Amino acid sequence: MHALTIALLPGDGIGPEVVAEGVRVIRAVAERWDHAIEFREGLIGGCALDARGTPLPPETLELCRAADAVLLGAVGGPRWDNPDARQRPEQGLLGLRRELQVYANLRPVTVHPSLAAASPLRAERLEGVDFVVVRELTGGIYFGDKRREQVPGGERAVDECVYTTVEIERVTRVAAQLARTRRRKLTSVDKANVLETSRLWRSTVTRVLREEFPDVALDHLLVDACAMQLLRDPRSFDVIVTENMFGDILTDEASMLAGSLGVLPSASLGDDNAAQDGERPRVRRGLYEPIHGSAPDIAGRGIANPIGTILSVALMLRHSFGLEQEARAVEQAVAATIDEGFVTTDIAPAGARSYSTVEVGRAIAAALANAVSA
Ligand code: IPM
Ligand code: MG
Repeated sequence: MHALTIALLPGDGIGPEVVAEGVRVIRAVAERWDHAIEFREGLIGGCALDARGTPLPPETLELCRAADAVLLGAVGGPRWDNPDARQRPEQGLLGLRRELQVYANLRPVTVHPSLAAASPLRAERLEGVDFVVVRELTGGIYFGDKRREQVPGGERAVDECVYTTVEIERVTRVAAQLARTRRRKLTSVDKANVLETSRLWRSTVTRVLREEFPDVALDHLLVDACAMQLLRDPRSFDVIVTENMFGDILTDEASMLAGSLGVLPSASLGDDNAAQDGERPRVRRGLYEPIHGSAPDIAGRGIANPIGTILSVALMLRHSFGLEQEARAVEQAVAATIDEGFVTTDIAPAGARSYSTVEVGRAIAAALANAVSA
């Protein structure tokens, strides 16, 4: 059997610690279900800047292009935070997303019942919360022209926000298709009362839904109202589709529903042009990363929460490799481990014992080894 190859990009800060636990879980899955999986490791972000003078070395990009999926930890840290620096670690991540053309970033938000207490919101608002934010990932203000100019009295800084019809259509299709597998409700989030890109966004989403997904209910929300609604009635959402920067901000907010930024995974997907080739399983290339950052304040202390990365592995099994049963087993192992109280300090109940990154990873891998076939 042809082995699946996974590119590992641990990156900076807590990235290497959480990716190590993701790898532990992949090995447990490979063992339990008899899959051949190979790993190749590369540099990205600040560590790549230090070692190679660029946050996205060409060999890293090559590695990712050749792999079936990419598992990434986090990039950045205070060491590289000089505002005058020509190159920043984050450019490595943005460049990778863009080069791989993974334009649809899926960020599922569910609330595990025993973590409701870790959320600043009241538990009764959180019961049954289950939605996915589909964030456009390779366009918008992140990738528009940036410049500085001298003007009387100081400088002028410009970040252009650009969207094309095609960019909006393709991410809308991913979101609407996802809604079809769920409760068939899509909320498109924009700022159409102010921004021209948002007006194109709104009319394009409306047309794609009318022409191609008449069975999916569509509504539109302004981003400020959405920020409020996420706290007031998070259960009302099924699938949210939004542009790059709004999705970045709303998903950090939404992570507070789940109790911690450390538990949320993400999958970044491009076009589904995977071809079936003989003995090889069908593969859709994707980039998988927890939504949290490099958390330099806790890096190296062994207390980072590996769950965001491990749930990203579940998304990889599902979306890139089509291994639904294995994906569910990982999600169930995570839930069981949380129920048993094997959690890191960010989500441990007040006064309860907390466990290290490695202990949590081992507990989840052990739960998998015992998982029975569904
Ligand atoms: C995220 C992060 C990144 C982003 C940063 C690190 C560039 O916040 O993945 O949400 O803004 O996309
Ligand atoms: Mg973010």
